[in-house]
Amino acid sequence: MAASMIKAATAAVSAGNMMRAQAGRVGTAVAAQRRLLHAAAPLRGDKLFVHRDTEKNNSSIAFEFTPENMKKVEAITAQFPPGHRAAACIPVLDLAQRQYGGWLPISAMDEVARVLQMPKIRVYEVASFYTMFNRDPVGKYHVQVCTTTPCMVRGAYNIFEHLQKKLGLHNGETSEDGMFTLLEVECLGACSNAPMIQINDEYYEDLELADVDRIIEALRKGETPKPGPQNGRKAAEPLGGLTALTSEPVDGAHKFRTDGKL
Ligand code: FES
Repeated sequence: MAASMIKAATAAVSAGNMMRAQAGRVGTAVAAQRRLLHAAAPLRGDKLFVHRDTEKNNSSIAFEFTPENMKKVEAITAQFPPGHRAAACIPVLDLAQRQYGGWLPISAMDEVARVLQMPKIRVYEVASFYTMFNRDPVGKYHVQVCTTTPCMVRGAYNIFEHLQKKLGLHNGETSEDGMFTLLEVECLGACSNAPMIQINDEYYEDLELADVDRIIEALRKGETPKPGPQNGRKAAEPLGGLTALTSEPVDGAHKFRTDGKL
């Protein structure tokens, strides 16, 4: 009786060890995946949502739209029905950001809330949700590297690491001379030209490391490198020429069927 109890207990311990070992392997695999998927998480945490008053960014710093931009604000809000000025929040925040030199201090967000007759918190929510709005100062050139899947499989992390070394910056940092800010971002909508980066308003696509060097050096010299695909192709067309839709549409540009119904 005692021997069979010992045998059963040993089997239970052994089964438990096997389960723990398997769980350990699964846990290791999950942890490995998490590390890959959340590479940028440490930066995004508090920075996305929390405002702390600083010398350069506090409510007592005055912000008001220039008369020229105020006219633009009125033109934008006029596109929406009465009582729906809040619908203009994104373009008006963008206007404020451009006027302030590429970022949005809290006083600019407060002014957007005032002119759109919105609660301040709703403007803060919009500005902190979209990464196109910078709530801290950025460099003259804001270098955003897309590392979402299509860009990642085409070498985006090589480009990101290369830029970190070349600019001497980590993710989210700005160079001491105020020239460059480097940021890892999610898909910028140019996946068919992956890998790509955005610098201020321009996209640089189909990148090799040598292209990145050339672009950064041009910016350092005060030149404006040509945006778009860097490998010579037109937009997202195949590099070797068209492979589909190669013949002219039937009957000119507007009709595609000989019966004239389309
Ligand atoms: S994944 Fe990089 S632009 Fe879409």
